[in-house]
Amino acid sequence: MFQSSVAFRSLSQGIVNYRITHCRWIDLKFTLGEEKTFVSSKIVVSPRLQGSSSPLVLDGADLKLISLHVNGKELKNEDFHVDSRHLTLTSPPSEKFTLEIVTEIYPQANTSLEGLYKTSGNFCTQCEAEGFRKITFYQDRPDIMAKYTCRIEADKSLYPVLLSNGNLIDQGDLEGGKHYVIWEDPHVKPCYLFALVAGQLESRDDTFVTRSGRKVALRIWTPAQDLPKTAHAMYSLKAAMKWDEDVFGLEYDLDLFNIVAVPDFNMGAMENKSLNIFNSKLVLASPETATDADYAAILGVIGHEYFHNWTGNRVTCRDWFQLSLKEGLTVFRDQEFSSDMGSRTVKRISDVSKLRTYQFPQDAGPMAHPVRPHSYIKVKAHALFSNDGMSVALHHTVLFVLPVFLHILTIDQHFFLVSFPYEQVYEKGAEVVRMYKTLLGSSGFRKGMDLYFKRHDGQAVTCEDFFAAMRDANGADFSNFLIWYSQAGTPRLKVTSTYNAEAKTYSLKFSQEVPATPGQPVKEPMFIPVALGLLGSNGNDIPINSVYHDGKLEIITSNGQPGHTTILRVTKKEEEFVFNDIPERPVPSMLRGYSAPVRMDSDLTDADLYFLLANDCDEFNRWEAGQILARKLMLSLVSDFQQNKPLVLNQKFLHGVKSILGDSSLDKEFIAKAITLPGEGEIMDMMEVADPDAVHSVRSFIRKQLASELKQEFIDTVKSNRSSEAYEFDHPNLARRALKNIALAYLGTLEDEAITELALHEYKTATNLTEQFAALVALDQKPGQTRDEVLADFYDKWQHDFLVVNKWFALQAMSDVPGNVENVRELLNHPAFDMRNPNKVYSLIGGFCGSPVNFHSKDGSGYKFLGEMVVQLDKINPQVASRMVSAFSRWKRYDETRQSLAKAQLEMILAANGLSENVFEIASKSLAA
Ligand code: TRP
Ligand code: ZN
Repeated sequence: MFQSSVAFRSLSQGIVNYRITHCRWIDLKFTLGEEKTFVSSKIVVSPRLQGSSSPLVLDGADLKLISLHVNGKELKNEDFHVDSRHLTLTSPPSEKFTLEIVTEIYPQANTSLEGLYKTSGNFCTQCEAEGFRKITFYQDRPDIMAKYTCRIEADKSLYPVLLSNGNLIDQGDLEGGKHYVIWEDPHVKPCYLFALVAGQLESRDDTFVTRSGRKVALRIWTPAQDLPKTAHAMYSLKAAMKWDEDVFGLEYDLDLFNIVAVPDFNMGAMENKSLNIFNSKLVLASPETATDADYAAILGVIGHEYFHNWTGNRVTCRDWFQLSLKEGLTVFRDQEFSSDMGSRTVKRISDVSKLRTYQFPQDAGPMAHPVRPHSYIKVKAHALFSNDGMSVALHHTVLFVLPVFLHILTIDQHFFLVSFPYEQVYEKGAEVVRMYKTLLGSSGFRKGMDLYFKRHDGQAVTCEDFFAAMRDANGADFSNFLIWYSQAGTPRLKVTSTYNAEAKTYSLKFSQEVPATPGQPVKEPMFIPVALGLLGSNGNDIPINSVYHDGKLEIITSNGQPGHTTILRVTKKEEEFVFNDIPERPVPSMLRGYSAPVRMDSDLTDADLYFLLANDCDEFNRWEAGQILARKLMLSLVSDFQQNKPLVLNQKFLHGVKSILGDSSLDKEFIAKAITLPGEGEIMDMMEVADPDAVHSVRSFIRKQLASELKQEFIDTVKSNRSSEAYEFDHPNLARRALKNIALAYLGTLEDEAITELALHEYKTATNLTEQFAALVALDQKPGQTRDEVLADFYDKWQHDFLVVNKWFALQAMSDVPGNVENVRELLNHPAFDMRNPNKVYSLIGGFCGSPVNFHSKDGSGYKFLGEMVVQLDKINPQVASRMVSAFSRWKRYDETRQSLAKAQLEMILAANGLSENVFEIASKSLAA
């Protein structure tokens, strides 16, 4: 396994040595205009191999080539050619030379939001992953690193602010009402981190003094009227800068850090060096216009992009297959940051819920994808280098005679980006990083990070380099851990236990199985760290001193985990651990803190689970025990529903919920999480054939039952958690609001005048959006005049704030009201809707797909709607369209009627003229599954 990845590495570096020339400086000049923009790039190119005179191939897309100069001389037509993807210089000089390229581009017409585009009258860029090639011809790959200067020229009144990466080194006025600036970035970077912004913006300014005394100017740029809404973003940025110093010893490395908020953005945000660009919904917040969830998301994403400065920018990816090197690690870092700023348990619960809702289903369907694609290359690399031909000469020979192979490598990487397996690379990638920390402890993990930066600062590296730093810094034995990067699918872990009262031994037997995924029919066992505690009958952990495992007696030393948590290393298909000196039959608490991204089936009884729910010192596992009980309950009621049996709520479950709700020793935010039922998707994911109607009916039934049985408790919870103080985003206050809002949500399921009055009262008296919107959600559940009135009132009040209007769209789109597709179709014509704005699409069309009963409606109306939308959207923005089409990817999970309806839509999409690669890739993969 490791062998072959070494081969892969040499292979790819071989490509760089042979084909790719290296440039150290790039000078860019932009002349921004109303119809067209001129971009001139001047690069110094030196062949890696002296004297080699192979063609130079540069990437480019949607560019008009204006002129081309080599060492100052205009190139003749026969010396180059341009196709839709490349510019090729057929025989460039064999020694170092300067290349000047002028292109013309049309940012005003760019609706893909990749490259340079206009948004609300301002210019901005998005270059990750392959957007730079829409700006100029270049070797658009992350291992080509250079220092950039960027001169921007534009009309001074239309574009008073001109920003790029690094330091501002010159500026001045030009004739004709124009002005210019020159930016210079002293750090080498790949082109995907280049950024430019120009427009009418103002900044909130602040400063941060780093621990070594560097004074950093911080600026958050928005249109003037939004400036008051940037206070929380600035707070978040300063907190992130401080946290990275405290926890990882990492300091900011320039004198200026800019954040720009733009309304049209495909993703959340982008970590461009010293010029982060954000989707405005992840910057702008005020108590009246943003919810606690928005405040938390802003904190996390501001942190995420800032943390990329070290994990992504200073140390970047060698190729796009290594995306998780920066993303898995940076998601892990932002999760830890948010944990330290709020409640660690609640943050972990949210992240694990997200994993189960989005990552698990994807990992079990046609879009299943390893964290880092590997096996494909591995096979090829082996074939090419089977006799250990590692010499440079051999590389070149092989690559020279096999140009087809080079092509395959590029294409495959491209398709990896086109289908963008976000959940696998980001979310599962973060779980993989978390496992290093679980195995090494905080200080061991820090040692690994220190070594990683010591070895690789300024380099473009691989996931194996990260692994090696963790291993070497700790002299650790990681066994088969690397398989987490290459093997797709969620491992299933089965556990059975036996207690021997005479010998006072307790045994846990594990067996694991990784399901087959597309292209990976046969799987190897994985390295699963199982954080374990054994609870005695008093509810406390029994000390674990030794374990008999693998024919050896191992002495256990606790590594700083809470209680007596021990980390078991499960690495084989079947494996037994026998604990000595266990005085009574314990209840095991396994995978504490969710120590590995697996699906676990254990032989715990309901009584064991209720015991854990009440007693486990690991709060995450208290929540987990409740979730397992809820999942079991829901699945058994689903089967009753399908057999037309009457639904009856288990009284033990009711009492469990009641006792958590009334336990004043618990954190309120934890209570809110603990009394929330698993989502409909999570339950469907556990069924042989997913049945959205049954799952929806059952979940609604339980919610309504709980609400009516605990009505008084919920009313008291609402009333006792009101506050007249000004909004604060701090833990006690957001926990209080979370509990109040979940109580109101339960009450909203009841047909009851008094409850409607209560919700209306909360709606009218709310002083912040968190509480007002929760009241609106409660009222939204019952069609009728009151609902229509509050929805209209809400729109009236907020129609000038597009971020709030998006929530209003989403609320209506997600409604489970039968036949809601018609309302959504009408909302498409609402004056506030715009298909070109990704946030609006995610709210209205994405929101609709978030209601399983309506999206999977048996009459096919939901599928038909999405099919039409995808075809329309694809012409505007392929990235957004492909995110929407993935809602179809698991069509085979449903009954035959639904299957044929969904299939017809996928076929219709694939037959559409001029379909983008993005949508094609996902639709065709889904169909072929
Ligand atoms: N790198 C960005 C982040 O981590 C996400 C992102 C923005 C992105 N645009 C992208 C990733 C395009 C891949 C492709 O927040
Ligand atoms: Zn990221």
